[in-house]
Amino acid sequence: MTYDASSAFAAAQDAADPLARFRAEFHVPLGPDGRPVAYFCGNSLGLLPRGARAAVEAEFVAWETKGVEGHFRGERPWTTYQDELAAPAARVVGAHAAEVVIMNTLTVNLHLLLVSFYQPTATRYKVLMEGGAFPSDQYALESQARLHGLDPAEAIVEMLPRPGEHTLRTEDIEAKIAELGASLATVIFGGLNYYTGQVYDMAAITRAGHAVGATVGFDLAHAAGNVPLSLHEWGVDYACWCTYKYLNSGPGGTSGVFIHERFHKRPDLLRLAGWWGHDPAARFEMKKGFRPTPGAAGWQLSCGQVLPMAVHRASLDVLEAAGGLLPLRAKSEQLTGYLEFLIRQLGRPTSELEIITPADPTQRGCQLSLLVHQRGRALFEHLAAAGIVGDWREPNVIRLAPVPLYNSFEDVRRAGAALAGFYDS
Ligand SMILES: Cc1ncc(COP(=O)(O)O)c(C=O)c1O
Repeated sequence: MTYDASSAFAAAQDAADPLARFRAEFHVPLGPDGRPVAYFCGNSLGLLPRGARAAVEAEFVAWETKGVEGHFRGERPWTTYQDELAAPAARVVGAHAAEVVIMNTLTVNLHLLLVSFYQPTATRYKVLMEGGAFPSDQYALESQARLHGLDPAEAIVEMLPRPGEHTLRTEDIEAKIAELGASLATVIFGGLNYYTGQVYDMAAITRAGHAVGATVGFDLAHAAGNVPLSLHEWGVDYACWCTYKYLNSGPGGTSGVFIHERFHKRPDLLRLAGWWGHDPAARFEMKKGFRPTPGAAGWQLSCGQVLPMAVHRASLDVLEAAGGLLPLRAKSEQLTGYLEFLIRQLGRPTSELEIITPADPTQRGCQLSLLVHQRGRALFEHLAAAGIVGDWREPNVIRLAPVPLYNSFEDVRRAGAALAGFYDS
């Protein structure tokens, strides 16, 4: 696509966009001038789907009119509510429905998965992570190492980019995995790094990890709903994600878990158990002796959190109506490419403003991370005043994520114009 910075270009793209109508499915907040903002913060919190209120209200009505019977009666009985979400959520991450369960929140799920997939021994005890992983993942892994009586500094290996580079090379990750060899217990990477926006080659990392006998998992907080995934086909062992970013399911929303089917017939695999993971046919017999439900559902602990799941259901409905990740991805590449074009047109030297997200579309999702070496906070505040909502990550990165479900080419054009306005002033 040949981009240009004019309003006419953006309007023509929006008019030709088959997904443009999905913007109306979301509430877009108003900015300082009373106009809808150009919202580029779906990498932090996605917008509210219009259908969410009705989905939650339906469960309030069920509760109001049925009380405890809502667990068993009505259109969507609460005992099986999570089961309905497995298939659409599995389509988001490229999995079979039985490999996915919706439950809890992300860091909680990461811990639950590590109980099963990080079982260090005297010789195989190391964890490989991307350097500068999201802090919650760092803290989770440090505490997991301590749980096993290990020194985190000894057990956790962090991969950093080569000097002078901002992102990791797949060949370096593969080489590090090979070097750690039989000492490596698990690899846990973000599928897409929250800071740089780099998408890792999850298939290659999984192959490399398996070649040395390690398990391989991904935190997909920034990947799920952003880039197409094929967890089953790639052979990934375990993964988890939140649903409040690109899956628009609200602050503190529920989380997803993937466990490859090769582990489904392994009731011996250590896990923390709770009654909701027990064989549903016998769950209410209240008997001793945990017998896990086959599949990822066997990792559930507590009865389902129906209200957050109702928001997630409404949001997944919009995603499905839009045709899923493939059409969204095609638009996403264009929107992000347009933003990149407008930023490059500013002509700023990299000593002042640098895009640290890979230029190769296959190595990024919708987010661009701008490393602002000079006047970073001033630029961020200028954008906010112009109704451009991005976010600031210390020490000096502005993240902007055009989301294909609700952002328009006009939003991106506005961001480009606001950036140009800053540097022209
Ligand atoms: C990559 C990543 N991991 C973990 C978390 C923490 O998620 P939660 O607070 O839902 O556990 C976040 C939150 O933004 C994240 O971006």
